[in-house]
Amino acid sequence: MESLYMTSPETVNSIPGQMKGKIPEWINGNLYRNGPGTFDLGESQYQHWFDGLGLLHKFEISNGKVKYRSKYIRSETYKKNMAANRIVVSEFGTAAFPDPCKNIFRRISTSFQTDNTLVTVTPLRDYVYTASEAKVIHKVDPKTLDTISAHDIEKFVVVNVASAHILRDPDGTMHNLGNSYKGAPKYSLIKIPVAPDGEDVFKKAEVVGSVPFRWPNSPSYLHSFGMSDNYYVFLEQPLCINTGYLMETMLTRKTFVDCLKWHEGTKTLFHIIDKRTGEKVNPKMTYLAEPFFVFHHISTYEEDGNLVVDVSAYEDPKILYIHYLKNLRSEQRDIYPEPTVRRYVLPLDTSVGATSGGNLVTLRIPLLAPLDRTMGRYCVITKHCLIWVWTSHRLMMDDVGRNIDTYLEPAVRT
Ligand SMILES: [Fe+2]
Repeated sequence: MESLYMTSPETVNSIPGQMKGKIPEWINGNLYRNGPGTFDLGESQYQHWFDGLGLLHKFEISNGKVKYRSKYIRSETYKKNMAANRIVVSEFGTAAFPDPCKNIFRRISTSFQTDNTLVTVTPLRDYVYTASEAKVIHKVDPKTLDTISAHDIEKFVVVNVASAHILRDPDGTMHNLGNSYKGAPKYSLIKIPVAPDGEDVFKKAEVVGSVPFRWPNSPSYLHSFGMSDNYYVFLEQPLCINTGYLMETMLTRKTFVDCLKWHEGTKTLFHIIDKRTGEKVNPKMTYLAEPFFVFHHISTYEEDGNLVVDVSAYEDPKILYIHYLKNLRSEQRDIYPEPTVRRYVLPLDTSVGATSGGNLVTLRIPLLAPLDRTMGRYCVITKHCLIWVWTSHRLMMDDVGRNIDTYLEPAVRT
């Protein structure tokens, strides 16, 4: 595990993998993984595991054998840092050292525009795309892992920050969720149709619909969202970005993490948006749940007039602070909080006439089957994403969602 927190060189040419166990010979293909690879640059060090420079890994699986290669994503952040041999662009949990040769305005413009797309990798047509919570994605050659081009979504739609997890329809249409501060601050759902070869992937991007922030100066921290055939769903969770602090950090050495505030006791709010019209579904209804913190939506699907939303949830955002490298590299490091798999059933048809506080959910909850009881490993495959969820076997739902360690939140009329 320690190697995950250490700087790694890239492996430009394929090397044979060292095997443990056996890979079935019928498995053939390429597995791409993205993540932080460099944590130390000259005399400077990143502070948080989410900050490291993005290293893209490729595992070529063929006839029971694996070959491996990796390459750093050639973002502007990577190039600037390497040229300076120190961290010059701020990241999630690290404030860059300002360049003393630049005035305050140039420092701001260069230090808070990371394009270090270290979080996800998405295959689309003949290429793969790397993304993070920034507004830039990178197009990468899937054979060599060379970075081909950078694409800035803000050139085509007014969105400043986007979710790290782009979702796709079966035809390749991509969807994302971002924050927009032009006019009234709002969350915006973005549709990105498949672009012809050679055209900027974002050229035909459009905002499908928007939802105002619950608190105008405190958008919720969003890392992912959910999508079914006909609906988007996203959460306004109690972990919020204080935009006032964010402005201050541009002049100080505080970080993005320093701008996040957990609003203890504040309910989590679900928003459902119609993918075709961009309109909010049941705008007079409020879909609320107890406070929790989510990085990842697991799956979203429609069944019998309901939207079923599975998330991997924590009681609070402590997991963010566990990932400081100082803690991860410590022998007495804090223990990872365990997430729970929670399934929320949101009724789409509210014409059934439930009374205030009544339960509108009549759907029998399908079994969320564990693949491996010992390890508590769940595999969820949907049309839009595939996510592995690691959790405790204690959290397995029974077929009516009554297990004591599961969460079935009735939606109520308010
Ligand atoms: Fe993620």
